[in-house]
Amino acid sequence: MQRATMTAAEVRQSFQDFFRSKGHEIVPSSPVVLQADPTLLFVNAGMNQFKEIFLGARASQYKRVANTQKCIRVSGKHNDLEEVGHDTYHHTFFEMLGNWSFGDYYKRESLGWGWELLTKVWGLPKERLWATVYKDDAEAIAIWKEVTDIDPSHILKFAEKDNFWEMGETGPCGPCSEIHFDRTPNGCTPEMVNAGTQDVIEIWNHVFIQYNRRSDGSLEELPAKHVDTGMGLERVTSVIQGKPSNYDTDLFRPLIEQMMQMSGKPYEGASAIAMRVVADHLRTLSFAIGDGVLPSNDGRGYVLRRLLRRAVRYGRKLGFTKPFMAPLLPTLDGMMGQAFPELRAHRVEIARAIQAEEESFSITLDRGLSLFDDVAAAVAASKTTTFPGDEAFKLYDTYGFPIDLTVVMAREKGLTVDEARFVTLMQEQRKRARDARKAATTDADVDVVSDLVAKGIKTQFTGYAGLAGQSAVTAMLQKQPGEAGTAPVEVLREGMEGAILLAQTPFYAEKGGQLGDHGTIVGPDGEFAVADTRQPAEGIVLHFGRVTRGAIAVGATVTATVNDERRSAVARHHTATHLLQHALREVVGTSVKQAGSMVGPDRLRFDFNYFQALTPEQIAAVERRVNELVVANDVVTTTEMALKDVPGSGIIAIFDEKYGDTVRVVAVGGYSRELCGGTHVAATGTIGQFRILSESSIASGVRRIEAVAGLPAYEAMCGDRRMLDALSKRFSVSVDDVLGRVDALAEQVKALDKQIKDQETAAAVRLADGLVAKAVDVKGVKLVAATANDLSGDALKSLSDAVLAKLGSAVVVVGGASDGKAQFVVGVSADLVKRGLHAGKIVKEVAKVAGGGGGGQPTLARAGGKDASKVTDAVAKAAEIVGGMVNG
Ligand code: ALA
Repeated sequence: MQRATMTAAEVRQSFQDFFRSKGHEIVPSSPVVLQADPTLLFVNAGMNQFKEIFLGARASQYKRVANTQKCIRVSGKHNDLEEVGHDTYHHTFFEMLGNWSFGDYYKRESLGWGWELLTKVWGLPKERLWATVYKDDAEAIAIWKEVTDIDPSHILKFAEKDNFWEMGETGPCGPCSEIHFDRTPNGCTPEMVNAGTQDVIEIWNHVFIQYNRRSDGSLEELPAKHVDTGMGLERVTSVIQGKPSNYDTDLFRPLIEQMMQMSGKPYEGASAIAMRVVADHLRTLSFAIGDGVLPSNDGRGYVLRRLLRRAVRYGRKLGFTKPFMAPLLPTLDGMMGQAFPELRAHRVEIARAIQAEEESFSITLDRGLSLFDDVAAAVAASKTTTFPGDEAFKLYDTYGFPIDLTVVMAREKGLTVDEARFVTLMQEQRKRARDARKAATTDADVDVVSDLVAKGIKTQFTGYAGLAGQSAVTAMLQKQPGEAGTAPVEVLREGMEGAILLAQTPFYAEKGGQLGDHGTIVGPDGEFAVADTRQPAEGIVLHFGRVTRGAIAVGATVTATVNDERRSAVARHHTATHLLQHALREVVGTSVKQAGSMVGPDRLRFDFNYFQALTPEQIAAVERRVNELVVANDVVTTTEMALKDVPGSGIIAIFDEKYGDTVRVVAVGGYSRELCGGTHVAATGTIGQFRILSESSIASGVRRIEAVAGLPAYEAMCGDRRMLDALSKRFSVSVDDVLGRVDALAEQVKALDKQIKDQETAAAVRLADGLVAKAVDVKGVKLVAATANDLSGDALKSLSDAVLAKLGSAVVVVGGASDGKAQFVVGVSADLVKRGLHAGKIVKEVAKVAGGGGGGQPTLARAGGKDASKVTDAVAKAAEIVGGMVNG
């Protein structure tokens, strides 16, 4: 194959073919989110999905695997956001080609094969390749010299910063050896390697994983040594194709070309940066949304929202004022859809989410931009350069401007944002949110858990089959009084809080939305009440609770018994959740996709992606359908199989499955099949009944249904019934007649209201006769100025109208005190407007006397005043005011 004409797809394929020929199993990329790893917002390296294998917590089916992994680097330890667009070789989303050895081959094979692929298969010129090694890794240096024909002067030593790779703040790590490619015109010098230029770039990192970094910073030797390599497909493709920039390869070029066409701008200067940012962020957004993350206000969703907003802002620089990202999606689909079918499968949701988010941001962007401009102008006018943190916070809080956006915009105007103040305000807001939430008491800290993993402690779950069993206590943690953390102990005594670990347990640990079991653990010397069960790492099941009697010790044989009633109630809600998902797809459409769920004993929550509110008819139809499936009493079955054996069709997948996992397929009747680890009823009839309590929006494009099943559904119905009974009693009618009675009462209230108004008006008209007689002459204008207390504003207006009607040409000023406040109405007949009289101006002057203000039309105006005692004084001034205004 001609190297320079290889497409990116061919590069991807030949990498996999090469490693298959070296005995590697080619495994799928994991989703960009691993729900099970809370230390990680997004997958940032190919090795993430194998973390537990490296740590020795999970065995691997294969010793050698390879793949291309979807990676996102926008947060945490590996964050390339700032570089993206400004340079040509960093991305927030990229594909990492990788090969792994799990305790199998090591440095020699890894480096040897790496060299073979680059120089022999892809034919990259040796004189352009440089190797870096960790300064103390003499072994790697020797291997480079021994197994490759690299120029020995091209082997360079670097310290931790460059050649010790770590996944995150904690986790697997080790020394590494990187391969760099030199694309300077005349060959580079050693100083140019690792100098952060696009002329000499790192293309492949070989990490020799041998430690676990703990949260106290210490390194712990792992049970076995592993290889973890990663090569950016975008970079190596640009090198193979001889392109100076990743964006010039077929992984980006079609997007850039479409943007050139849409904007009419050339790919150069600031426009080129903007096009690169948009192309990059579009890929990240699409893959993340395709894997189930949606833009939102916190966590991963907020990272996406920020990326989208950043892209929109750069889009403005290209002249795009209307949503422009969704139209790029078919192009992306054409480029990547084959390698990543999930992009195609979720194309509708991806387009919809991006479009909706872009639209809603465009509106706030305009408003926010004008606020920003006002503030920036005020800062400039005051001859300072600090953009206030309070305003930056307002832009963030009200207009959704990420702080980095505000910082960049301020910088463009030569201003710096008071970020310290912004951070303070953010912290205050977070604290408020935290205080509002109940403090979590059941988290065990990362180190304690990794110690348990390292000790080889494992719990076998027996709770699908039975709800009680005997087991040895393998470890215990005590909650540190007054602190968040836990510490290992040998004995827990009466009153102490903590967690117990067992060799086997029937307790289901919170997972996949289903809450953890409650129950008791009874030993020879005491009893422990389990109030929650969680699994912070594979196989580590923590029974959280308190010793209620005596003491429990490590090594004791105990009987663990799950609270049966609660578990059954949870099972009813869990199976109901599957029925609900099925019914939603039937009634609303198959584009409905689960975005999250919570299954408890007394209710369930089901979040799904859908772009608009369900109609009351749809909600009723979904509820009815679920109840039909309940009375059909369909059988629920569960089957276990390897993830790779799961047939693709008809199964609703979830997002946190990893390579090597055994999955469970839960099937109901012939219609619903879901990958699910939860506990279910044996047949749907057990659910009893099902009720939807609410349907609402929780984020743009995400809806939430709250529902109840079994006895809570019955209780909900009873609640309605009680309410109806109370109403029927209150109105002394039968339940059937309540509605008629309420309607009749509403009519009655309306009629009474009207009656009151009519009476007031009639009274006002009667008053009018008296007032007409009081008319005085002010420079040839008839003026009636009078007070009338305790009338509504409307009645006062009727009074003014009536006086005017009787007099024809006149000015009427009436004031009154009502409910401790002053109110005024001024009427001016049309002919007098021509003589310079204006009701609005008159009322303004009059009301001023009573501490008020107001205004209105030339012929009619109303005003209020705070000081009711001044009404008479105010009205008394009318003559003077009118006199001053009238002309001719
Ligand atoms: N895990 C290594 C990296 O991401 C290969 O660079």
